[in-house]
Formats: sequence, C-alpha cells, structure tokens
Amino acid sequence: MPDLSITYSKLRLRSPVIVASAGITGTVERLQRCEENGAGAVVTKSLFQKEICRIAPTPRFKIVKHENTFTLYSYEQASEFNPQEYAEFIFKAKQKLSIPVIASINCYTDDAWLEYSKLMEQAGADAIELNLSCPHGVHIMSGMDVIEEMVHTTKLVKSNVKIPVIPKMTPQSTNPGSDALRLDNAGADGLVMFNRFTGLDIDIEKEAPILHGGYAGHGGPWAIMYGLRWISAVSPKVKCSISASGGAINGEDVVKYILAGASAVQVCTTVILNGYGVIKKINKYLEEYMERKGYNTIDDFKGKVCGKILDMDSVDRTHWAVARIDKEKCTSCGKCFTVCIYDAIEKDDGKFKVNQNCDGCGLCAELCPAKAILMVRRGEV
Ligand SMILES: Cc1cc2nc3c(=O)[nH]c(=O)nc-3n(C[C@H](O)[C@H](O)[C@H](O)COP(=O)(O)O)c2cc1C
Ligand code: SF4
Ligand code: SF4
Repeated sequence: MPDLSITYSKLRLRSPVIVASAGITGTVERLQRCEENGAGAVVTKSLFQKEICRIAPTPRFKIVKHENTFTLYSYEQASEFNPQEYAEFIFKAKQKLSIPVIASINCYTDDAWLEYSKLMEQAGADAIELNLSCPHGVHIMSGMDVIEEMVHTTKLVKSNVKIPVIPKMTPQSTNPGSDALRLDNAGADGLVMFNRFTGLDIDIEKEAPILHGGYAGHGGPWAIMYGLRWISAVSPKVKCSISASGGAINGEDVVKYILAGASAVQVCTTVILNGYGVIKKINKYLEEYMERKGYNTIDDFKGKVCGKILDMDSVDRTHWAVARIDKEKCTSCGKCFTVCIYDAIEKDDGKFKVNQNCDGCGLCAELCPAKAILMVRRGEV
C-alpha cells in the first residue's frame, strides 16, 4: 500500500490533501467532516481584523458557466467569529481533531498581526496561514504593494510565534516567482500558491454587476494551469514547502500539482460543489496512481516534471507535423475548413482534404467532432 504521508511546513500530514480556508472549514463540525473523509490537514476559515468582513451578504454564490468549464463566483466573507471566539474555535478544534489545524488570519495593522497570531498559537493552532491575498481583502482592493506587505508581515509574525508561518500568495502579481523567493528568504515555513482572483461579472440587461453588486472572487478548474506554471518554476528553488491552491478538482489535478513540486494540495471549490466525500476519492486516486507507477511515497514523484520543462531555446521548432483526414470517418461537417487560417483544407468531391499549405498547427485535429484528423510526420501523408 503506497504511503500518502508528507511533511509540509514542518508538519507531518497523513495525506497531501488539505482542505483550504473557506466556509467548509468554518466550524468544528465541518473540520471533523474533513478529517473523517481523509484530509491531511485543515486551514480554518479566515479570521479578519476588518469587522465588516465578518458579515456576508445573501446570496453569495453564482456558478458562471463558460463553454467547457465554469467559475465559482463568490462573495463569501470572513469567519463570523471575533478574535476571542475564533481562538476558542481553534482550541475546540484541536481537542476534537487529530490532523493539523492551520489557523488563517487576515489583518491590516502590525498590532493586530501580532495579537491575532499570538492568540492562535496560545489556542493550540499547529501553524498560521497569513491570508494576505483575499480577493475581497484590504491588500488586494487598495492596490498597495502586496509583496512588500507580505515580506514585512511574514518577518513580523515569524518573530512573534514559534509555530510555522505560511503566507498565502495572491496570483495577482507581476512576478509570483520572485515573490515566492522573497517570502522564502523572509523565513516562511511554507507557501500557499495561490488564493483566488478578484473579478467582476456583469448582467447586460440590467447593465449592473451581478450577485451582491460588487467585485467577487473567481476561480475554477481553469485556474490550475497558472498554479502549475509557477509552482514548477519555484519549487526547485525554495527551501520551504509549497501547498498548491487553485483549480484542483480531482485526483488527477492533485497528481499534477505534486509532479510540479507541491508538497501538499489544497482543495476548496471541489469540496463546496461535490461534498467532503471528494477528499476520499482523491486519496483513493492517489493510491491507485502510485501503485500503477510503482511509487511508495509522494516524494518518489514530487517535482518530477520540473526538470523536463523546456526553455525558449530548447523547444523543437521543426515543422514536422501535418494533418491527415481519414475519409471513412469524416462526416463533412466543415469545421476544419472554418478554422484553418492557412487555407490548407479544401473540398474534394463532397469530402474535405488537406492540401500542401498545411502548417501542422494541429487545431483542426483538436476540433474535428468525428476525430477524423490525425497529425502525422510530413511525408507520411
Ligand atoms: C467560497 C470561498 C471562500 C473562501 N474563503 C477564504 C478565506 O476565508 N480565506 C482564504 O485564505 N481563502 C479563502 N478562499 C480561497 C480558498 O481557500 C482557495 O485558496 C481557493 O478557492 C482556490 O482553490 P480552489 O480552486 O480549490 O477553490 C475561499 C474560496 C471560496 C471559493
Ligand atoms: S472537421 Fe473532421 S469531420 Fe468535419 S469536415 Fe473536417 S475532417 Fe471531416
Ligand atoms: S493542421 Fe493547422 S494548418 Fe494544417 S490543416 Fe489543420 S488547421 Fe490547417
């Protein structure tokens, strides 16, 4: 049986799957559901210094559908607890749970960072996640220099507590790669890459913002590629461990994040939409994948893709490929003809054929509904 246990931010976890900070981790009962379903750790719903954020409007969720994916558009606010109540919540959670409980806090003054982080440590939190990246938070919304704030706050909280300190990064940065290195150098024990994006959707009939009438957080399965890109670049260079967050919906996504170098993977949207049972399914998928590949531990495949990512100069730019249409399968729908900007598709006796203009771009093969197009080596047509 493969061993799913890992070390993340100096904490020992039985699984790399962490339930991310959100309403799904807002009460002790919900945290217990995470544990019962196999989570490696939980990050509690953020405590905010800004009191108005402790009250959320209704409704606060909207599924915005795009053609083949979706956005969970939401304006869920902070934990309703005040700092004292929150510390009691952490204390009770620690009594009931055996997996690590990571407390998430979001402040905007140094005094509050010091006070809240100390409270969490005293309440028994195993680590502190610094939520400096909330899409509705003070930092993101005010346009202040987020990375300077993150470095300053990481150093400040590190000097104040003994438990691990984990800044949660925003994806809205000009250079997440250098931000991660700076946070690592500032003493972060772990990094969460990333929180969600801030966004806006518009009702074109009412000519107004949808939902609660303001900006909202947005994320979904599509967000994973951004996380993979930056984690794969950063993971070989940092001392601290990385927890991926963003777009991990199923076991396959978790494997991808580990291959990119993440030690742990946080899940949120998939738990909100599919229930806590999805954690069990992800663990099962991980075990099956590891058995199939002959891996005993997560470390056996962690970061395995990083060394295989080509730089600009190493990419094979030879035009070796051309499209070939299987006439038996072709239904003459004309999709390839519509999308080929190289005028390489022509009609031939009611069917379509590829001419010598084919540049091998591969788009027609991706879009052919009959799967009648193969990309083959030039000369093999
Ligand atoms: C409804 C909702 C509420 C969230 N609340 C918080 C929060 O309080 N603190 C925080 O750090 N992140 C919060 N997040 C961000 C998640 O923790 C997570 O980083 C993000 O959703 C990306 O992961 P996913 O694609 O698996 O959802 C929230 C996300 C959602 C969807
Ligand atoms: S897209 Fe496929 S099925 Fe449609 S015409 Fe082209 S080859 Fe035929
Ligand atoms: S591979 Fe690209 S260039 Fe060639 S026929 Fe298809 S769409 Fe046109």
